[in-house]
Amino acid sequence: MPGSKKVFIKTYGCQMNVYDSERMNEALAPYGYAAASSLQDADLVVLNTCHIREKAAEKVYSELGRLRQLKAERRAAGKETIITVAGCVAQAEGQEIIARAAVVDVVIGPQNYHRLPEMIFRAKSEARQIVATDFPNEDKFKWLPERAPRRAAAAFLTVQEGCDKFCTFCVVPYTRGVEFSRPVSQLLDEARQLIAGGVREITLLGQNVNAYHGIGPDGQTWSLARLINAMAELEELQRIRYTTSHPRDMSDDLIATHRDQPKLMPYLHLPFQAGSDRILAAMNRKHSAQDYLELIARIRQARPDLALSTDIIVGFPGETDEEFQQTLAIVAEVGFAQAYSFKYSPRPGTPAASIADQLPEEVKSERLQALQSLLDGQQQSFNASCVGKVFPVLFERAGRQSGQIIGRSPYLQPVHTAAETTLLGRILPVEISAAGPNSLSGVIKAA
Ligand code: 5AD
Ligand code: SF4
Repeated sequence: MPGSKKVFIKTYGCQMNVYDSERMNEALAPYGYAAASSLQDADLVVLNTCHIREKAAEKVYSELGRLRQLKAERRAAGKETIITVAGCVAQAEGQEIIARAAVVDVVIGPQNYHRLPEMIFRAKSEARQIVATDFPNEDKFKWLPERAPRRAAAAFLTVQEGCDKFCTFCVVPYTRGVEFSRPVSQLLDEARQLIAGGVREITLLGQNVNAYHGIGPDGQTWSLARLINAMAELEELQRIRYTTSHPRDMSDDLIATHRDQPKLMPYLHLPFQAGSDRILAAMNRKHSAQDYLELIARIRQARPDLALSTDIIVGFPGETDEEFQQTLAIVAEVGFAQAYSFKYSPRPGTPAASIADQLPEEVKSERLQALQSLLDGQQQSFNASCVGKVFPVLFERAGRQSGQIIGRSPYLQPVHTAAETTLLGRILPVEISAAGPNSLSGVIKAA
């Protein structure tokens, strides 16, 4: 019976996890599961987890502690609760989770979640804990149901998964596996389904999205640039973004697409991780600081109004103060509209975790603070520079106050404006009148 059972999916980590959670919800719907309004209400709880840093991974076990209590309370009230751990911690620590947390019924990795309904059924009928963390030969996307109609005008679409770059700090090649690109026709189909459900902006996702090399309908291997241009032909789709990219895969045709394709938003997330060439080599990044700066110059030449975002790690093993200063120098030179920065976190099984010279926590914290104050200043001044400009804003959701709606600028900044919710899903010109640290506000200009 549709809606006879309730599922609550709690999502941690990256945008791909957000996407995966949506697809898990869709996969469960034919089996009667509707979204629960709260954890207490859920017959099935799924933790879609992240393993990228230690802190992210630890959250799972503390949440499982709370869920043990919840499951007991619900049992006392005569209700069954199935607990599932999905995502990257599931992939990395499958057996350990089972051993540590008896409360868990199903552990399912990112490449197996199309089998989630079957695994839940098995856990129930066999009354035992089930672990599904192999890398199956089959393509999970072939088995997932079509995309459900959307509530929001912007959606994610995973086009590529996994990574072959093997940066020495990173778990992704182990949790998400080797690089895999979905076929073009499958992606265009999914984009059409999203558009039919009201979507006007699609962000193409991949752990290394610009390494995309999917098979096209013509039997040839297509680049991300070619995929973007094909998506742009879908008339009702008005905006395209992609994330996350590697500098090494920023090909000429992709840079040219930033110049030539008006539907591709002038905003690029391009991690550089560190400013010292010695650290970049130790990270196995396959680019130097100079390579990155030259690349940025070429991209800006192609698209002068493009704004940049990045990822940076401080306190990689052995990083000296001078080397950290080189990271600050890159930031100062490029100027970022937005950035994510992290303290290095040793991840079990990655090469950098066994480098002897791990830095003390205080050193990492100090460097992170210095970096973040520089980045915060850049973000503030980028936002301030938007005041007085008119941006096309895609309105996505109602604001907290009635009579207010929130959309996104081309640069992903949330834009608050006074208007009715009937305008949700539309792109309208907004004159920016004020800038805060994380958002803008403005007034819709009459057409
Ligand atoms: N420690 C700290 N940050 C990390 N990242 C990836 N692995 C680690 C790690 N072990 C950061 C990188 C990456 C982002 C998604 O997370 O900056 O680009
Ligand atoms: Fe975290 Fe990486 Fe997994 Fe995303 S792919 S959830 S960032 S470990």
